[in-house]
Amino acid sequence: MKMVKCYIQYEKLEEVREKLFALGVPGLSVAEVKGIGKPMSQMRAHPESKTSKLPQFHPSLEITIVLESDGVDEVVEALVSTLRTGNLSDGKIFVLPVEQAIRVRTGEKGKQALY
Ligand SMILES: Nc1ncnc2c1ncn2[C@@H]1O[C@H](COP(=O)(O)OP(=O)(O)OP(=O)(O)O)[C@@H](O)[C@H]1O
Ligand SMILES: [Mg+2]
Repeated sequence: MKMVKCYIQYEKLEEVREKLFALGVPGLSVAEVKGIGKPMSQMRAHPESKTSKLPQFHPSLEITIVLESDGVDEVVEALVSTLRTGNLSDGKIFVLPVEQAIRVRTGEKGKQALY
């Protein structure tokens, strides 16, 4: 199993929901977060720059999906094609390993807990 964490712009949420459930994801969570992207690393690379100022937080949505490893590529491709406008801050996707999933109601574990 894998966890896909995806940071998106608010206005993309509905389109992302449609695409993900068309692909049959077993569930997802959405959280309102604030974050900082690339400017932070640019500042680290050039700390002497007089023009660099402390990066500011920007509101973003964090989507978390846990799914079978086999489905990850398809989900990531769907996210990228839905989110990409070519502008800065289109978003960021991370893929993490997941050790276990447990459905509390039944005690089912692993894949059975997802679907
Ligand atoms: N390395 C990171 N770790 C954790 N969260 C991140 C990281 N990079 C980006 N994020 C989250 O993703 C959001 C969107 O990032 P963003 O799309 O601006 O990435 P970027 O790397 O700066 O790309 P771009 O150059 O297109 O702006 C950030 O506001 C933050 O919430
Ligand atoms: Mg950015």
